[in-house]
Amino acid sequence: MSIDVVEPKTISQFEDEQGIYQPAPHIVEQANITAYMRSKGFSTWEELYQWSIEHPHLFWADMANRLEWYEPWEKVLDDSNKPFYKWFVGGKFNIVHNAIDRHLKTARRNKQALIWEGEDGSYRAFSYFGINREVSKFANVLKSMGVQPGDIVSIYMPRIPELVFAMLACAKIGAAHSVIYGGFSVEALRERIADAQSKVLITADGGYMRGKIVELKKIADEAMGHSPSIQTCIVVRRTGHNVEMQAGRDYWWHDLMSLPIATARCETVPVDAEHPLYILYTSGSTGKPKGVVHVHGGYAVYIASTLYFTFDIKEEDRYWCAADPGWVTGHSYIVYGPLIEGATSFMYEGAPNYPYPNRWWSLVEKYGINILYTAPTAIRGLMRFGDAWPNRHDLSSLRLLGSVGEPINPEAWRWFYNVIGKGRCPIMDTWWQTETGGFMITPNPTTPLKPGSATRPFLGIQADVVDEQGHSKGANEDGLLVIKSPWPGMMRTILRDPDRYVNQYWNSDPRGMYTAGDSARKDEDGYFWIIGRIDDVIKVSGYRLGTAEIESALVSHPAVSEAAAIGLPHEVKGTAIHCFVILRAGIEETPALEDELKAHVAREMGPIARPESIKFVSMLPKTRSGKIMRRVLKAQALGQDPGDLSTLEG
Ligand code: WT7
Repeated sequence: MSIDVVEPKTISQFEDEQGIYQPAPHIVEQANITAYMRSKGFSTWEELYQWSIEHPHLFWADMANRLEWYEPWEKVLDDSNKPFYKWFVGGKFNIVHNAIDRHLKTARRNKQALIWEGEDGSYRAFSYFGINREVSKFANVLKSMGVQPGDIVSIYMPRIPELVFAMLACAKIGAAHSVIYGGFSVEALRERIADAQSKVLITADGGYMRGKIVELKKIADEAMGHSPSIQTCIVVRRTGHNVEMQAGRDYWWHDLMSLPIATARCETVPVDAEHPLYILYTSGSTGKPKGVVHVHGGYAVYIASTLYFTFDIKEEDRYWCAADPGWVTGHSYIVYGPLIEGATSFMYEGAPNYPYPNRWWSLVEKYGINILYTAPTAIRGLMRFGDAWPNRHDLSSLRLLGSVGEPINPEAWRWFYNVIGKGRCPIMDTWWQTETGGFMITPNPTTPLKPGSATRPFLGIQADVVDEQGHSKGANEDGLLVIKSPWPGMMRTILRDPDRYVNQYWNSDPRGMYTAGDSARKDEDGYFWIIGRIDDVIKVSGYRLGTAEIESALVSHPAVSEAAAIGLPHEVKGTAIHCFVILRAGIEETPALEDELKAHVAREMGPIARPESIKFVSMLPKTRSGKIMRRVLKAQALGQDPGDLSTLEG
């Protein structure tokens, strides 16, 4: 006989019988989106959304009017040369004027803009006044180095405040920045510097990660050895360990900042709304990484409005986006978005579980974080250590949570919701990409939530799931995720390769929809469920890596003749890299060589690209035209049916 014990399924009072988490009335009542909805005379989000996609010009003009323009735009959208859309045409603008300068005229001048904690426990904080000083000084340094509007400055730094100052200083004087993630290594850095043709590289002696020093300057030295464009390297002293400084090329940041030219007065340069703000390299299905171009005007409008409505930022909030500034998440939602919104952005340098698995939770408690934005891989990683670690801390300051980078599995969602958010904090599962600039499919605090779904498109965004011919799929049918109309935060082109921009994102669809490269389905309520990449991109711990880059790192090793990389499911990383390698004739297959090849990939590309396994094989499945059929390798590894093999080489 069994005794019926009624166990509460969850500690949340907001979960209904269908497993949908209804928004709490007090959150709905005070939400930024509710205020906007009412101001437009609508009584439901659906009506507001419908209006926003029927009158995108009115909606985006509203959003642009939240920001300050030196000169107003003449036209919201110029679509005369699709897909090279232009937004806020004729407007004169600078994102830094909006992120810093305009706050200096208000009481926000003395508000904390950036709070930083190092992995070693060091603490630094900057008010808007303080951040302006650092940025202006460094902008003057860059000018003295000959950096001009239109130049691209490469930045390769740990997660420290100077990274933020460097980005803002470039933008202030109209130069574009290209931030290369500090976890990347020599070849990845060299390739990105070469494509950007940077004359200036900004780096640091090193950074801390899990108590160890990451030797950034050493890696930069190797990369610069093969980067003829570089004339100047500016080095922040972070770790203080010994590094080589090449006379005439390398300068210490602190030396330059104490020169008389580094005054704290520097005019922000008004630029065209369409002036390039930054280049960010991201992996695609083939070939070398793509330099995604974002611009000042539309991008600023887009990230500010998505942050305002989705994360519901309020004046008194302390907001923590735990990503790295080296990725688009950091660009949009650590640096530019929060500063434009006049928020307080918190940044932490190191690993989430260092020295103990409670580090993040202790930071939430210590700094009174209200909004925490992270990735499913981090949630799964911390979940493994058990509930006792977060339960030791007072997490009651949290009001809202966010997730990005890959689909969040419902188990991790519920843990985040119940154990971290204590059943009080809605989770914003934001789907977007480097290319989209900001959130595309995302809930807002008034949206009923289904764990694992990014819910519905943001205001002004028309998303759909279609077949290869561009016809809408029915409810719950898998298909291609597309965006059917332009938006201000969209990428403008690929640096030096506009054809690739057209072919990769627009041409595969005859109706000129933006193809995201993801598969998805839409349920009967119009909720989107992202399935994953349909191209040869692997998402390792939320980081985007191209199989082609991993394979080219492998074949650069003298023992390797051919290589193929695939992604297979992994409990914490989501997906892990597995490689198949054909060795050159006469080379012996040994476990030592396997280790060496793993280390070789990590050295070339960065530790995140280290393969989980390397298998030696004598042949690889290929099409008759010589393309490696990775899906066949994947099906074999998973013991699944490889599907149509008609194009397989006989
Ligand atoms: C790819 C873009 C956007 C910032 C970080 C990643 C996947 C992203 C989600 C989500 C399911 C997601 C997609 C997308 N992705 N967010 N909430 N749910 N999948 O930017 O490196 O450009 O990667 O990340 O596959 O295409 P990215």
